[in-house]
Amino acid sequence: METNSHMQNKKQIIDLLTTTPAQELFNEADKVRQENVGDEVHLRGLIEFSNICRNDCLYCGLRRSNSSVKRYHMADDEVISTARQAADIGFKTIVLQSGEDLYYTSLRLCHIIEAIKKFDVALTLSIGERSESDYKDFRNAGADRFLMRIETTDKELYHRLNPGMNWQHRYECLMIIKGLGYELGSGIMVGLPGQTIESIADDLLFLQDIAVDMAGIGPFIPHPATPLAKEAGGTLEMALRTMAVMRLLLPDINIPATTAMESLHPQGRIMALQAGANVIMPNVTDGEYRQLYELYPGKPLANDTPAHTQNIIAQKIHAIGRTIGHGQGGHHVEITMQ
Ligand code: 5AD
Repeated sequence: METNSHMQNKKQIIDLLTTTPAQELFNEADKVRQENVGDEVHLRGLIEFSNICRNDCLYCGLRRSNSSVKRYHMADDEVISTARQAADIGFKTIVLQSGEDLYYTSLRLCHIIEAIKKFDVALTLSIGERSESDYKDFRNAGADRFLMRIETTDKELYHRLNPGMNWQHRYECLMIIKGLGYELGSGIMVGLPGQTIESIADDLLFLQDIAVDMAGIGPFIPHPATPLAKEAGGTLEMALRTMAVMRLLLPDINIPATTAMESLHPQGRIMALQAGANVIMPNVTDGEYRQLYELYPGKPLANDTPAHTQNIIAQKIHAIGRTIGHGQGGHHVEITMQ
């Protein structure tokens, strides 16, 4: 099997996604992962600090038209104290994720970012589309990384699924973010209604082309309170295949074993760690909020506490002979080979 730089062409990618025996592909991605980023699994503490969203994406449980969701936003000091607890139990990266909730003005978020950066952690934002000046402010306040999936590079599909949004604008946001020196994470969903294998291959080439530092790939899971409730959704196998090919195309980036994979199979994230992934983002949101952030149904450990979630995940990682990352686990940092 050919890997990374030799595998520019779309036909080869399509073969890997469809005809190559899955286990062969996963083993190859696992080997490329081991050689390039080693055996450490980096944990990121994910705080879902607001489920309020101005957008109406057809696939998402938090879409603004879903009136059955009890909406919340965490107060600034709640976000900060949740981050402190996550840092105290050992997380070296904190990810702040929310719907597109403009209650969090630039001023408010900068105050939160500055406070959290005092805990000696890397800070990642996953808050969607904002103005260039906001992205600048967040970076100046200390944010290190930014995650925003392109979702799909099929523009027609994108505009159908994300009413009121604009693909080109999202792309431009990603370029601004990259230009400001953030580590850039992006990614896609696999199994969207109307998405073709060719378009998934294009997505992978796009992520390679924009040279993401991190790529999050997950199956689309239909949410019952959305217009896509009756759709088939993505399969774990196709999501894992797509992720594995991503590893071959970009051998040394960070690739999370995504939560949506675990929603489809109790060992989904472990399978992902053995098919190219090297990152897990345990949910460290606490209390009532944790159950209210339902992008899709079946999220694992929705009633759990942060420390217990972390324990379970650490045990699973050790059980497959991997170690937990000691550092902040950014892209292009020196790795320790075991
Ligand atoms: N199934 C799977 N992933 C979803 N996301 C949103 N809704 C769903 C769903 N129904 C993903 C999107 C978004 C990320 C935060 O969650 O890719 O960017």
